[in-house]
Amino acid sequence: MSELVIAIDGPVGSGKSTVARRVAEVLGYVYLDSGAMYRAVAWKALRNHVPLDSEEELQAMAGASRIDLLSTDDSFRVLVDGADVTDEIRSAAVAQAASKVAVIAGVRTVLVKEQRRAARGGGVVMEGRDIGTVVFPDAGLKIFLEASVEVRAERRRLEHAQKGECLELSEVLEEVRQRDRRDRERAVSPLVRAHDAVLVDNTAMNAEETARLIVLLARERDGAKAAVRKV
Ligand code: C5P
Repeated sequence: MSELVIAIDGPVGSGKSTVARRVAEVLGYVYLDSGAMYRAVAWKALRNHVPLDSEEELQAMAGASRIDLLSTDDSFRVLVDGADVTDEIRSAAVAQAASKVAVIAGVRTVLVKEQRRAARGGGVVMEGRDIGTVVFPDAGLKIFLEASVEVRAERRRLEHAQKGECLELSEVLEEVRQRDRRDRERAVSPLVRAHDAVLVDNTAMNAEETARLIVLLARERDGAKAAVRKV
């Protein structure tokens, strides 16, 4: 199989990470989580007490930071200036802060450049909010993942619970709604489905079923690409 860029976008709890990881594993591609970069910037801002609405300071901080995504077959690690922050960036506080720093155009410019660099050469599954619309408008396959807000909140609650963070479903539902609003309504790179993205609603599908569907679509796209190359 040749090397497509597969863009998977969708809201919180739509299953992007699990699905994208599995698709990459089946196809032998590299998995890249763009949200981890926004979380990394947010983590550093919280740690250094940089106000989350200070555009200039956040842009400068993002530009001066080194964020490494280390993707191997069985792990995905995130380093900020050499320090491993993989687990720390998954807290509810960092998630909220990430969706705040993500509204800042200057921060997005810095991170989009890094994302394009990381996916040079293809053979990549990248997940996020603007991958099919802004980062890779020419991606070989674009997927927009959706699920009902209640199902997404329950998935999120379970994720937090697995890390020992016990939250009420109503609390998580509110967190998900707030992040949805910020992601969908922001002026720069809002979360929208690219006109040529395949809409996959996985409210009633598990991650494995969703991943299989995407793998089938990828093989179909890749076959079509190969046929065009032969002509
Ligand atoms: O995907 P995840 O929930 O880890 O992303 C954290 C936050 O980063 C999101 O709520 C969103 O605001 C932001 N984000 C973004 N664009 C991306 C990926 C994530 O704005 N491509």
